[in-house]
Amino acid sequence: MCGIVGYIGDGHAVPILIDSLRMLEYRGYDSAGVTVFNGSLETYKIAGRIKELENIIPENTKGSIGIGHTRWATHGKPETKNAHPHISSGISVVHNGIIENYLELKERLTDLGYEFQSDTDTEVIAHLLHFNMNGNSNNSLLDGLAETVKELKGSYAIAALYDKEPGIMAFARKDSPLVVGLGNGSNYTASDVTALLKHTKKVIFINDDEIGLVKPETVEIYDLEGHTISRDPETIEWTLEAAEKAGYEHFMLKEIHEQPTSIQDTFAGKLSELEGTVTLKELYLKPEEIKRLRRATIIACGTSWNAGILGKYLFEKLAGIHTDVETASEFRYSNPVLCGEELTIAITQSGETADTLAAVRSSSSYGCRSIAITNVVGSTITRESDSVLYTRAGPEIGVAATKTFTAQLIALYMLAINLGRARGVISANEAKDLIVGIKRLPGQIQKILNRKEAIKECAIQFAESRDYFFIGRYLNFPVALEGALKLKEISYIHAEGYAAGELKHGPLALITEETPVVAIATKGHTYEKILSNIKEVKARDATVIAVADDDDTEIEKYVDVVLRVPSSHELLSPVLSSVVLQLLSYYTALAKGCSIDKPRNLAKSVTVE
Ligand code: F6R
Repeated sequence: MCGIVGYIGDGHAVPILIDSLRMLEYRGYDSAGVTVFNGSLETYKIAGRIKELENIIPENTKGSIGIGHTRWATHGKPETKNAHPHISSGISVVHNGIIENYLELKERLTDLGYEFQSDTDTEVIAHLLHFNMNGNSNNSLLDGLAETVKELKGSYAIAALYDKEPGIMAFARKDSPLVVGLGNGSNYTASDVTALLKHTKKVIFINDDEIGLVKPETVEIYDLEGHTISRDPETIEWTLEAAEKAGYEHFMLKEIHEQPTSIQDTFAGKLSELEGTVTLKELYLKPEEIKRLRRATIIACGTSWNAGILGKYLFEKLAGIHTDVETASEFRYSNPVLCGEELTIAITQSGETADTLAAVRSSSSYGCRSIAITNVVGSTITRESDSVLYTRAGPEIGVAATKTFTAQLIALYMLAINLGRARGVISANEAKDLIVGIKRLPGQIQKILNRKEAIKECAIQFAESRDYFFIGRYLNFPVALEGALKLKEISYIHAEGYAAGELKHGPLALITEETPVVAIATKGHTYEKILSNIKEVKARDATVIAVADDDDTEIEKYVDVVLRVPSSHELLSPVLSSVVLQLLSYYTALAKGCSIDKPRNLAKSVTVE
């Protein structure tokens, strides 16, 4: 997804902008560009990588003010003319989001004599800003931007420069993330705090319908009526090292290996084994509200949605709350039947997924209480929800979610146990068993990582397959879905995740000797059932790879390859099986030479509809 950076201070802008853009590469992009104020505004842009952008910027380009952008095409192909910044005589603009009324604005501006160079929606912002500053009055950049955003429909994070006001950078935000970084004699803007980690940890998150100015020493924030807004800066805990590769070949591999720590950090300080309690101070639900809850709706997309399916099973089993899991992009256009005594749980690692945000806003309009589970402090979802339960997985740079997924599962276990105890559905002893099991997970994941060679061998053996099936029952169904999603995302192999009992209702027709079937067959009350499903696919000549417990001595009789996980509490085994499947996908993609951290067509944070 697109990324914005901006710098104003006493340093050399070009290397700072390029460095910051590199920190955003993980979000996925197809073109990049910068504008630097060097006596006048100089703009360089290219359809290609940041390295190529660097090559076209003359070495002696001076200037200590600039804005930069990585673009992920939505309106117009990935071509240089469509890359940002976009210019309108003396004004330069970078933009994330989508301007829904851009065609109408384009027509109006064309009639006024503006000539468009690109196919983008963003270019209308540059020309409209120019018109609002020069066309009908003599507005300042800030006033012009205030007028401009009032005419925009859609979502935007904008940074803008004007050559006649060279000491300032203007910004505006609606439904697309934007943060201002505070340095010493230098300040920054960015769409994502990761871009700022090299320069500062002190940031101010900009809210919807706010605009402002960044100067080397000060930051001004206003609402659209021009009232000053004062907001204290926050300190980001993430470290730069956490956002770098630390010797691993790929971010994804590093992030898979971080899971013993990221899980530990997510539950740290919240679990009491002695009392069988999970303390979630961040949950603003009164005990009587928890008791009265009739239904929960989980809203999420992609991997987070897969986590949500496990969440459903946990809330129903441990807390006795009927739970639905909704795909956010569908939910926002459906006619949900919701009421005040219901809970909405939004799961989003980035906290910025446009569909999830819109769905949560729609559920709030019914008076539902809402909880967000997210990994990013200060992200938009945290301002849209009554309570925020943070996963503490640290920055995730690889596009394919790994450590944020398992951290989400931990958050869901904790929430389910907390609600279940408050509602009297599970006893202290049952909670204790789970808490002991959760605390053992980091060590058990480490064991899986220590013997990853067996998973690598298996991945290489089947890397040339055209199709893959992942099957599981009950708690292992979301594991199968996530295993298939990970594989298709980074290795481009067609993969289906299926509830194993559903195979015979259609997909069994696709099973041949060429189709590896991964069966998640950890011990639990559906174990015998999955063995029957394994026999079904074996009878169609499929090769079966089972994910099974260390102490399962029977499974080898039925399958071709066994990938082992340490034995655990039945409810917790999905965390361990998921790590095995992450490694299977990673090594398959590695064997195929795919672009693992930045898979084609995908972006880390999907901030457009
Ligand atoms: C897959 C993946 C995506 C995201 C989805 C939602 O590896 O990362 O499917 O899970 O785009 O993103 P968040 O969780 O940020 O809302």
